[in-house]
Amino acid sequence: MSGLSLQHVSKSFPLAGQAVPALADVSLALEAGQFGALIGPSGCGKSTLLRMVADVFSPSAGQITIDGAPPQQARREHQIGFVFQEATLLPWRSVLENVRLPLEVLGKAGRHPARSPEELVRLVGLAGYEHARPSQLSGGMQQRCAIARALVASPKILLLDEPFGALDEVMRYRMNFELLRIRAETRTTALMVTHSIEEAVLMADRIFVFAARPGRIIETLDVDLPRPRRLATLHDPRFNAIVDQVRRALFDQLPQALDHEALDV
Ligand SMILES: Nc1ncnc2c1ncn2[C@@H]1O[C@H](COP(=O)(O)OP(=O)(O)O)[C@@H](O)[C@H]1O
Ligand SMILES: [Mg+2]
Repeated sequence: MSGLSLQHVSKSFPLAGQAVPALADVSLALEAGQFGALIGPSGCGKSTLLRMVADVFSPSAGQITIDGAPPQQARREHQIGFVFQEATLLPWRSVLENVRLPLEVLGKAGRHPARSPEELVRLVGLAGYEHARPSQLSGGMQQRCAIARALVASPKILLLDEPFGALDEVMRYRMNFELLRIRAETRTTALMVTHSIEEAVLMADRIFVFAARPGRIIETLDVDLPRPRRLATLHDPRFNAIVDQVRRALFDQLPQALDHEALDV
């Protein structure tokens, strides 16, 4: 099966001699080339899910496949690109050298990249900054560099963990449209964690709404807004209807003490 598939995935962590469930029976699917968004309260296991897809650790139960292969194989074949909230660039390397790094790690085993590091630097809008150090870039530019680095080995899947969480709102929207443009060109399957409902709806084909303790999916929503998505998409009544649906799913899981009336301020 192409794309990403999680079937009945659970994960527990040991704590004080007990197994504490972080994720319980999570099943989700993305077709190749689709964009998925994970949204839910802090601690509901979103980062844990991404790390299992990236084979940082294994599920306690269930099965994960990336284009039919287990995460261990996908990782060995460098089919996974990961972007974190902080850009995690090497400060002593230039933009181009940071983007090139995964190819150097791959060495001779590396596939011929679909795009050269130079092309990717241009694709993410950093032309002219090839030889700049990360400290000479704004936060948004550093994240673009991290995205280029994540794409340089032509991965089958791009995982993004709150990639724009540290940016101001205007910059975040700019980065959203940049990422949409980059992805339209690379057609990489993507799974992004976000705290922003608008960001999830703007970017995704499919949104997975999580609840906590234990982390689980409480709603899966397909976003059928046309592509390319533009600034005008934010004013589309269908956009706002889906934002409303996601908000409702998130608020419905609040304890009674925080019911809708109590939130009426
Ligand atoms: N390496 C780990 N060891 C032990 N517990 C962990 C580890 N990683 C995450 N957890 C626990 O798993 C739960 C989910 O965490 P996380 O995936 O970071 O949530 P989110 O990203 O949704 O905020 C939390 O209760 C957290 O304390
Ligand atoms: Mg997290």
